[in-house]
Amino acid sequence: MIVLPECALMTPDGCDCLTALVLMPPFRHRLTTSAMVLVPQDPVRILPNDRPLQATFQTAGLLLPVVPGGNECHLYSLAEDDNAMTDTSRHTHWEQVYTTKGEREVSWFQESAEPSMELLRATGASADTRIIDIGAGASRLVDTLVHGGFQNVTVLDLSEAALSTARARLGARAETVQWIAADVTRWEPAQTFDVWHDRAAFHFLTEDTDRAAYVERMRRAVRPGGHVILGTFALDGPERCSGLAVVRYSGETLADTLGADFQLLATISHLHTTPWGSQQSFQFSTFRVA
Ligand SMILES: C[S@@+](CC[C@H](N)C(=O)[O-])C[C@H]1O[C@@H](n2cnc3c(N)ncnc32)[C@H](O)[C@@H]1O
Repeated sequence: MIVLPECALMTPDGCDCLTALVLMPPFRHRLTTSAMVLVPQDPVRILPNDRPLQATFQTAGLLLPVVPGGNECHLYSLAEDDNAMTDTSRHTHWEQVYTTKGEREVSWFQESAEPSMELLRATGASADTRIIDIGAGASRLVDTLVHGGFQNVTVLDLSEAALSTARARLGARAETVQWIAADVTRWEPAQTFDVWHDRAAFHFLTEDTDRAAYVERMRRAVRPGGHVILGTFALDGPERCSGLAVVRYSGETLADTLGADFQLLATISHLHTTPWGSQQSFQFSTFRVA
């Protein structure tokens, strides 16, 4: 191990934990493990997680495994407690992600939105189906939908930066999409939808109150007989993503969480390959709304 004295990251007042992003560009493809948790006077512990480049540390002296060719260390985000995110810290976190990282520098990037499109087609969706993608980020699902002729597409995310990226990519065709910058747990839906899609946003809600607020909005926003497609980390998936804790689900535990208004139609397993080659176990479940 080496100590990087130039990483003079100081613990701010009132905060005893920092999260830092450690960039090791030439070696990304060789890393097979993920998060490195560093505690004072303790050797590095490598956890089986999804974030090979994420380090959480509690001292200003940052220890890293020796990586030939050198390391670069950047302050990434601050959080006292990932499990108790306030509205502000949640917004700040995601804005920071999308303003500091390129499309392929986030673990959830996918070139083509599968299995989402396959599951969407299975609901019988057609050009006039009203579809909302919740926590869409800068995902390319909207591109596939717009280029595929879907005319009623809404994209919601709490990061304005993520929405701007997707809008810019779509150019003039972005005008055909409804863009909503909002926290889904606070959002007041003004219309109903036929299909509610969410890949990897719901699983960040670790508090009962946030999950209840999400489900209540979903119940209001999807018409009776409409569909919900939820992709989350599976029970054997990562415990964290983007430095944040997540809740992992099976189709059954998700159905329990959503309640009786959402009838589970099908669950499929999906292995997502991150841009740096690690694999993440997802489940995608489709529900019909009562
Ligand atoms: C892991 S990313 C997935 C992005 C996208 N669904 C995809 O598959 O590429 C999680 C996304 O959820 C968004 N998000 C997290 N919490 C949210 C909330 N409470 N309301 C709205 N969006 C949220 C984040 O801004 C981020 O874009």
